Amino acid sequence: MFTAKGNYTLVTTRITKMAFELKSVVPWGRNMGEYKIMFDLSNDDLNHKIISFGDGPASFNYEMTKLGKSVTSLDPIYQFVKDEIQQRIAETKDTILEQIHNNRDKFLWTTIKSIPDLEHIRMEAMNAFIEDFELGKVQGRYVCHELPMVTEFKDLSFDLGLSSHFLILYAGLGLDFHLKSISEMLRICKEIRIFPLLNLNGHESEVLKEIIAYFESDFEINIHKVDYEFQKGGNRLLKITRRVK
Ligand SMILES: C[S@@+](CC[C@H](N)C(=O)[O-])C[C@H]1O[C@@H](n2cnc3c(N)ncnc32)[C@H](O)[C@@H]1O
Repeated sequence: MFTAKGNYTLVTTRITKMAFELKSVVPWGRNMGEYKIMFDLSNDDLNHKIISFGDGPASFNYEMTKLGKSVTSLDPIYQFVKDEIQQRIAETKDTILEQIHNNRDKFLWTTIKSIPDLEHIRMEAMNAFIEDFELGKVQGRYVCHELPMVTEFKDLSFDLGLSSHFLILYAGLGLDFHLKSISEMLRICKEIRIFPLLNLNGHESEVLKEIIAYFESDFEINIHKVDYEFQKGGNRLLKITRRVK
C-alpha cells in the first residue's frame, strides 16, 4: 500500500534509493489463489506469458514459477535487498492490520474470516515472496521498475499484463499517471487486467470513467464481476484488449 495518496499513514525508518523511498510503501502481498480469482485467470491464461505491474511482495510469481509458468513482476521496491523489504514488512504489518480492524465494516469477512486469518494469509504470501526474491531477481523474474516510466521490454512482449491493488485503486496518483502507465502496459502486452475498480475509500475510482473514455476508441474494454470481494463492492475487473484487425 502506498501511503502518500491513501488513508494509511506510516512513517518509520528512512531507507532511500534513487528517487523512490521504501518508507512510502506499506508492503502487502496477495497469493496466486487470490490473483486467479480477482483476474479471472483461466488455465489457458495461466499458460500465457504474464507480467504483473506493482507486484510488490505478492507470492504470485513464486507460486506460478513453481508450476513452470512464466511471470515477470515489476515494482520499485525490487531495488532494495531482501532484508530491507523484510524489515519494512515487519515494521508496518501491525499498523495495517490495526487500520483494517478500525475500518472492518468496509470489508467482507466471508472468504477471509477474521483479522488473524488475514494476517496469516498475507504473511504466508509475503514470506514466500521474501524466500524467492533473490533467486527471482537473478533469474530476471523480479524487475525494478516504477510506473509510468517506459519499461525495457519490446512491443507486445507479453500476452497478459496485470495490476492488482495499485492502478485505479490509488486514484490520487492522477489521471495523467494512469493514462501514461496504462499506455505503457498496452505497448508491451496484448491484454491488460486491472483489479479492483474502487478507490481506497471504497467508492468507484475517480479515474475509471476517464480511463475508459481515453482507451475505448482503440481498444476493447470490458468490465465484469469476479468472485473475489474483500473490499466491499470491490468485485469488478477491468480488461483492456487490443482489437483484432
Ligand atoms: C498494495 S501493493 C499491491 C501488491 C500486489 N500487487 C498485491 O496485490 O499483492 C501496491 C504496490 O505498488 C507498488 N508501487 C508503488 N508505486 C509504484 C509505481 N510508481 N510503479 C509501480 N509500482 C508501484 C508498491 O511498491 C507496492 O508493492
